[in-house]
Amino acid sequence: GRPIGVAVLGMGNVGAEVVRILTENAADIQARVGAPVVLRGVAVRDLSKTRPGIDPALLTADPATLIARKDVDLVVELIGGIDPPRALILEALETGKSVITANKALMAAHAGELSQAAGANAVDLYFEAAVAGAIPVIRPLTQSLAGDSVNRVAGIVNGTTNYILSEMAETGADYDEVLAEAGRLGYAEADPTADVEGYDAAAKAAILASIAFHTRVTADDVYREGISAITPADLEAAAKFDCTIKLLAICERLTDDGTQRISARVYPALIPLEHPLATVNGAFNAVVVESENAGRLMFYGQGAGGAPTAAAVMGDLVMAARNRVFRGRGPLESTYASLPIATIDDV
Ligand code: NDP
Ligand code: HSE
Repeated sequence: GRPIGVAVLGMGNVGAEVVRILTENAADIQARVGAPVVLRGVAVRDLSKTRPGIDPALLTADPATLIARKDVDLVVELIGGIDPPRALILEALETGKSVITANKALMAAHAGELSQAAGANAVDLYFEAAVAGAIPVIRPLTQSLAGDSVNRVAGIVNGTTNYILSEMAETGADYDEVLAEAGRLGYAEADPTADVEGYDAAAKAAILASIAFHTRVTADDVYREGISAITPADLEAAAKFDCTIKLLAICERLTDDGTQRISARVYPALIPLEHPLATVNGAFNAVVVESENAGRLMFYGQGAGGAPTAAAVMGDLVMAARNRVFRGRGPLESTYASLPIATIDDV
């Protein structure tokens, strides 16, 4: 088939790994897609940085012009934050390009608008990497469990805070030092306040609650506490009770006098050491789903970091490219546009 052209926006922790995998796995990807998938360009902020692994001729500081190219079919947004990604993604969708993003902050705030643009233009908007890095959770909830009724989604969805809490518990390491290390390892957000104050986990909880309960929840609807007040003494005290402390995200469907309500909350919690979530350490995440007929499912893996996150982005990219080749259209993530607005009860 004719080549599928890809524009990557952002070449930081995740973008650089997407470019590497796209290049290294080109032959396998072509076999799975049924056409060559070709990198047309990569948008960055600072053109003067040294970037190994890419032909400098592919770099640009003008993402809008890159998106507008006729030979670009798919846009992969890995810049982060609301602006400029929101406008760039809207522009891409409205001009018939499919979009893949890892941007939870954006999806938690503007999924309805973006999904509507995707639906109106019959293109894909995929965001598997936005929640829990490498772990497939979006597709299981939107596809595999689409015929069941999910009542609860809960777990550890932020790698940075889990890394900090695990290191503090295991080695008594200093909070600021471990946070800086999480940044060096590529786990933390550009502004790590989003991680340590629970905003990142709240954005992920909003996305999970929206797709699990088929109702639109935004990050502002989620009750939120972070871990910045947790001290080594708190972790020592927890250990004395055979517990540890984890930042949890909990999304539940509540039925009250026949009325359905949603609870979505993020806070540090005491976990007994024998609980499966207590053994999730470092930048690993785990998500437990409780579903009416399927019962309990647990998803576990690397929740942050360039390569693991890029793997999830690549899965979406291959799906979106295949949809182009076979003229189908990814069905389920786009239903965000038609979700009713949730009734929130975050107690
Ligand atoms: P980085 O901060 O490492 O990279 C951001 C990239 O975007 C940089 O290459 C930067 O350019 C570029 N950029 C910034 N502003 C602009 C602009 N205006 N125009 C063009 N390019 C721009 O972020 P990450 O790779 O860590 O994260 C990217 C996205 O993935 C975020 O949404 C994040 O939340 C999400 N994510 C990250 C995970 C992780 O573990 N890191 C895991 C899951 C999701 P320059 O290089 O010149 O500075
Ligand atoms: N900063 C995020 C985390 C990246 O630490 O979990 C993955 O979404």
